[in-house]
Amino acid sequence: MNADIANWTRIGVLDDIPRQGSRKVRAGAMTIAVFRNADDRVFALEDKCPHKNGPLSQGIVHGDCVTCPLHNWVISLETGMAQGADEGETPAFRVRLDGQDIYLDLSTNLAAV
Ligand code: FES
Repeated sequence: MNADIANWTRIGVLDDIPRQGSRKVRAGAMTIAVFRNADDRVFALEDKCPHKNGPLSQGIVHGDCVTCPLHNWVISLETGMAQGADEGETPAFRVRLDGQDIYLDLSTNLAAV
């Protein structure tokens, strides 16, 4: 059986997030940063840099990446993986747009798939 175990939760609308910015969402004890890039694609990462837990929600969004505000590591918004010579990853969550509505899948994260 190929059951869809997604747990899609509506977290707001696209215009809640500034272009090339983010918005924080609480999920239990975790804070998730939901990003919107210049192409109006949305991404969701735990709001913790894999280096020293810097707040990625305060980073600079460019392309499909965010640069951490603390020490400038570049993190993929799609996978949560550190780019370049840096190593580490932040949990990434599935997120989708349905019209203007943003849904976040809290049942899993991309780093675990
Ligand atoms: S905490 Fe993000 S680069 Fe150091």
